[in-house]
Amino acid sequence: MSAGIVQAAYIVAAVLFIMSLAGLSKQETARKGNYFGIAGMAIALIATIFGPESQGTVWIILAMIIGGAIGIFYAKKVEMTEMPELVAMLHSFVGMAAVLVGFNTFLHHQPLEGALLNIHLVEVFLGVFIGAVTFTGSLVAFAKLRGLVSTSALQLPHRHKLNLVALIVSALLLVWFVKAEGSMAALILVTLIAFAFGYHLVASIGGADMPVVVSMLNSYSGWAAAAAGFMLANDLLIVTGALVGSSGAILSYIMCKAMNRSFVSVIAGGFGSDGVASSDDEEYGEHRETTAEEVAELLKDAKSVIITPGYGMAVAQAQYPVHEITDKLRAQGVEVRFGIHPVAGRLPGHMNVLLAEAKVPYDIVLEMDEINDDFPKTDVVLVIGANDTVNPAAMEDPNSPIAGMPVLEVWNASNVIVFKRSMNTGYAGVQNPLFFKENSQMLFGDAKASCLSILEHL
Ligand code: TAP
Repeated sequence: MSAGIVQAAYIVAAVLFIMSLAGLSKQETARKGNYFGIAGMAIALIATIFGPESQGTVWIILAMIIGGAIGIFYAKKVEMTEMPELVAMLHSFVGMAAVLVGFNTFLHHQPLEGALLNIHLVEVFLGVFIGAVTFTGSLVAFAKLRGLVSTSALQLPHRHKLNLVALIVSALLLVWFVKAEGSMAALILVTLIAFAFGYHLVASIGGADMPVVVSMLNSYSGWAAAAAGFMLANDLLIVTGALVGSSGAILSYIMCKAMNRSFVSVIAGGFGSDGVASSDDEEYGEHRETTAEEVAELLKDAKSVIITPGYGMAVAQAQYPVHEITDKLRAQGVEVRFGIHPVAGRLPGHMNVLLAEAKVPYDIVLEMDEINDDFPKTDVVLVIGANDTVNPAAMEDPNSPIAGMPVLEVWNASNVIVFKRSMNTGYAGVQNPLFFKENSQMLFGDAKASCLSILEHL
């Protein structure tokens, strides 16, 4: 394939990637967006593998078959609830790839001089630095999301100073690296510092801020890919990396806004969380329990119902019976809508994906801001496996770790039914005063079993 055709293919692929992002920004067009992305990536791969600069095609194809087989195996096996972990793991691969490309291009590059050599060295240094931060940061995120390590924030003494020192030393190493026209010792040193920096950065972020971390690492992996693109002089990798990097940054910003957090404070690792006491041990009084039969009766008498799903709905795979309940109630003239918190579940858009999978109509699925004012006019709210996203402590308790995060104000409805298995806390590890309010009742059990039981009585 000639260089001209490869460039043309790269432009087509880049346009398809942009169309893919545009498609993925809305539920209705997300499937089309995925197809654009797949087509763009297929074109990019074919043009790169069969382009004039590529060598060892047989090895590349062999590696793709092995990698592809592992990828298909895991993609088929992974549960929807494990997606964020998988994404974190994949980000770590991108980070490691950038580190390896950095070392490789440092060891084998065409003879360069003057400004061109300096530019090349800076590219290598930054590529390795960003890649190494992404690698260990993503591994820590993976371990936190999988529950292999504690989700609480690591609070080393002088942690901000430690971060600052790591950055200053890395900047000095960059100067040394360029002045020495390339020094392996400097490159290895900065790699080690960046590994430690990435680890510390994510370990210092508490469980409640994990949504921002996931999207932030998404952004980092994009910049790592863009850096690899500079090192390999591959325009498409630069464009694609920049697209992923900036869309990840926008997503992080949206997540921060949704959680009322400052972006800088989250990435700097828990600024503002110093000395904050958790309200775990507070006594809230007694909770009331109910049965599926009683809930069915309540629903039959209701005029308006709002369902607020959370992570537990995903665990229980309750979206299908939830849809059936919705259909039954709507057929009886009850107004049923869904209220979706921006960080419900474990990944952006988690609840929207599950509800779309169960074919719940899009027009009754509303964002938190669109529905929050309607709770006082609502007869029954079904809180299905949600906890942190409906916790009034976020608004009422300034000492709570989730203080300031906007939540679904379900307690303003006449009746609140909470579907969960126990009185355990949610992801942020904070007790929920909602469970003890006078208009709240707990329906204990697996959310799917509870929904099926309600269906029987409807
Ligand atoms: P959570 O606060 O995580 O609470 C989920 C609840 O579901 C738990 O209290 C659990 O209680 C219940 N549950 C689990 N399995 C269940 C089952 N089979 N049947 C019934 N209930 C079940 O959920 P949320 O309200 O969706 O909040 C999300 C949290 O995750 C937030 O803190 C958010 O910051 C964090 N987070 C979000 C993301 C993104 S991007 N969305 C990423 C990382 C972290 P029991 O154990 O008592 O059943």
